[in-house]
Amino acid sequence: MRTETPPTIRLQDYRPSDHLIDTVDLDIRLDRQASRMTAVLAVRPNPAGVPIAPLVLDGDELTLLSLRLDGEPLPAEAYTATPSGLTLHAPPQRPFRLTLETQVDPTANTKLMGLYRSSGVYCTQCEADGFRRITYFLDRPDILSVYTTRIEASRDEAPVLLGNGNPVETGEVPGTDRHYAIWQDPHPKPAYLFAIVGGRLGHVGRSFTTSEGRAVALGVYVEPGKEARAEYALDAVARSMAWDELVFGRAYDLDVFNVVAVSDFNMGAMENKGLNIFNDKYVLASPETATDADYANIEAIIAHEYFHNWSGNRVTCRDWFQLCLKEGLTVFRDQEFSSDMRSRAVHRIGEVRTLRARQFPEDAGPLAHPVRPKQYAEINNFYTATVYEKGAEIVRMLKALIGDSAFRKGMDRYFSDNDGTAATVEDFLQAFATETGRDLAHFAQWYERPGTPRIAVSGHYDATAKTYRLNIRQTRPGAGADAPPLVIPVALGLVGPDGPLDVTHERLRDGVFVLDEAEDGLTFENIAAPPVPSLFRDFSAPVRVEIALSDAERLTLLRHDTDAFNRWESAQRVALRIVIEGARSGSETLDGAAGLADALAAFVDQEALRDPAFAALMLALPSEGEVAGEIGANIDPDAIFSARRRLRQGIAARLRDRLVSVRDRLAEPAGASFSPDAASAGRRAFRNAALDLIAVADPEHGATLAREQIASATTMTDRLAGLATLSLIPGEAREAELAAFAALYTAEPLVLDKWFAIQAAIPEDDTIARIGRLQRHPAFSMTNPNRVRSLIGVFSLANPTQFNRPDGAGYALVAETVLALDKRNPQIAARLLTAFGSWRQLEPVRRVAAEGALRGIAGAGGLSRDVVDIAGRSLA
Ligand code: ARG
Ligand code: ZN
Repeated sequence: MRTETPPTIRLQDYRPSDHLIDTVDLDIRLDRQASRMTAVLAVRPNPAGVPIAPLVLDGDELTLLSLRLDGEPLPAEAYTATPSGLTLHAPPQRPFRLTLETQVDPTANTKLMGLYRSSGVYCTQCEADGFRRITYFLDRPDILSVYTTRIEASRDEAPVLLGNGNPVETGEVPGTDRHYAIWQDPHPKPAYLFAIVGGRLGHVGRSFTTSEGRAVALGVYVEPGKEARAEYALDAVARSMAWDELVFGRAYDLDVFNVVAVSDFNMGAMENKGLNIFNDKYVLASPETATDADYANIEAIIAHEYFHNWSGNRVTCRDWFQLCLKEGLTVFRDQEFSSDMRSRAVHRIGEVRTLRARQFPEDAGPLAHPVRPKQYAEINNFYTATVYEKGAEIVRMLKALIGDSAFRKGMDRYFSDNDGTAATVEDFLQAFATETGRDLAHFAQWYERPGTPRIAVSGHYDATAKTYRLNIRQTRPGAGADAPPLVIPVALGLVGPDGPLDVTHERLRDGVFVLDEAEDGLTFENIAAPPVPSLFRDFSAPVRVEIALSDAERLTLLRHDTDAFNRWESAQRVALRIVIEGARSGSETLDGAAGLADALAAFVDQEALRDPAFAALMLALPSEGEVAGEIGANIDPDAIFSARRRLRQGIAARLRDRLVSVRDRLAEPAGASFSPDAASAGRRAFRNAALDLIAVADPEHGATLAREQIASATTMTDRLAGLATLSLIPGEAREAELAAFAALYTAEPLVLDKWFAIQAAIPEDDTIARIGRLQRHPAFSMTNPNRVRSLIGVFSLANPTQFNRPDGAGYALVAETVLALDKRNPQIAARLLTAFGSWRQLEPVRRVAAEGALRGIAGAGGLSRDVVDIAGRSLA
């Protein structure tokens, strides 16, 4: 009873709609089970469409109550209406008004797409295709309309009524307990940016005056009583607005900008015009409940959604294949913002860690796809690390290739040439081509080719000629020998035994060498001694680099490179080599571990007090997932885990004394008030990284320090870090502290998510049983996406040894959850299922077990399109 394969939608089949919708007038009467929508659509034939075509509107689980054309009811034979569509067989060949009445049940909407209720608050999610769950519509991003929305609700149930655009009117509905608000959005927009909110909400606000002199009322709406926790997000909105004016020349364009936090949300947040709706995890913050990482995420996601106002809303996407046009670009913009707000080098390392943890595996497995996919069965499965993170890297490479000032000019041109339209990747590149006079057709290949390129580099020093030759060759796994090469910016330099060399070369512009052939190279003159090449500085391209360097050469980079990213990278590479060899040999002694530990010790002495955030990153070894990705085949997660642990033990033993002392020196002075800024967060990050390593060297001492820290912590960052360290030390103390933590935060679901996550990641055989118990915990719920992600999502992504248990129990747990969840919320189920993406790279026993679990899902009946798509592609 296998579910049928869903139809495929192809980029090459794109054609404009036969009809346009100029205005949408909506009247929404909110009701728990029977919300009613009246939509008046001003439709006209598209001059670019087929002249005599039926009008086919999208729908999804809709009930049509009535239908009129220019005010007149339509005879039954003139149209066909089903829950999933409405067809007018012979619409007039002139502009006309269609009045549709539909009814939906927001309480029964467990997919969290369209109109639903989250903890009593009515809200909407329309991207990618949720608007068709509100009314029948041409639900595609190239249909831009001006919306006027009247929202009506019980005043008691929903005293706050918010919509897109500017507020124009509010009032009572005479003779009832109901009230209404009318919102008007002057900017034409696609339906996926539509939103309303109705509920009992508290709020914080302030005013922001734009560079154009517009006074904007900013508001952040949250659960009543949590207003103080919204202040940081509100401040981040104002900082985002100021930054986008300064760095990209983009000013805001409405009188109000609202952010609403809801607790049931499928993803991070949504950029609806003037009314961003957020997962409350990315809004609410207080020192007692949010970690430094939470603060950084809030700042980044607030910025991301705000920046969409230009990159996404004013210039939107022609079709969903162009998703990277708004997402990759907007991720690039939010990364730049966070880099300016915090430490650029530290932020860059974080970006690369995310890319390697999420995008590299995706690109190496069966779910790999181009940044601009050529086809899809379910678009909601393409909100991926590839579209977002690799998409951002492409924009960053473009900037490196053409230079900062040409990049800014090209961005200005992109916004002005495409303002108010639905654009394509070609339109984006054209703006830069026009501005620079360069042909970017070759560069555009980055959008079309899946797979992480491999760059093989070799260096040859000629002692007689005093020259140094670098040869650089690119290949793409899976691509044929005749596959066109990519245009790759290689930021590089040379480092001598005593420090960086000041080298010039005609092929280097601002330190960037452009590799646009399969193989190329350059020779440096007047090099006195054999240098070490520092390649892909600041991670100038999303590639894997292969170069035969000794540990000693790499550690020269750690000591002397001017590029902070490569200082970090060189230590990571040494660690990777050691762990990979240790996992292969299984041997107790790790060749080179002592050398790495010595180098890290020297680094800590030199840098830990100066730049603790950077030093904390230096202490973090490559994750088990990253090691697995480098090995690539026949993976044994237990062997990786144990080799990595042996290396950590060696480093911890060597560093222990200085970690104890630096940790003390970085302690907050008693009575210091909390600040989430990057410098304070960096000190906490180093202290907690140190704690973790101290506990590796000496679990007993580590447990004592962790318990002290939990007891005295004044921030969630420190309390949670203490608990995380303790969670890796089996024993009664761990269980007691876990229980105490839960008791302290019974009323704080977002804090309990962290508690679920810590336990889901414990690399012990008992974790499966523990998760079973936690699933029955009163705070756990299969209906809340944050809870599911914290427990089952974290287990599948952050606990490689237990998810990949040779007995298959980890796969079975995740597979069961996917099937149970699919009935309620297919998007979350499908996302969870992507954890199986690297199954083919496992050693045979686990591979068979993982494949069995996947086939069990694929063979089940009644599956959603979302899950069928992921299961099918994973097995293909
Ligand atoms: N556009 C949102 C963002 O800012 C994400 C929407 C995701 N939608 C979905 N159906 N998965 O990135
Ligand atoms: Zn986005």
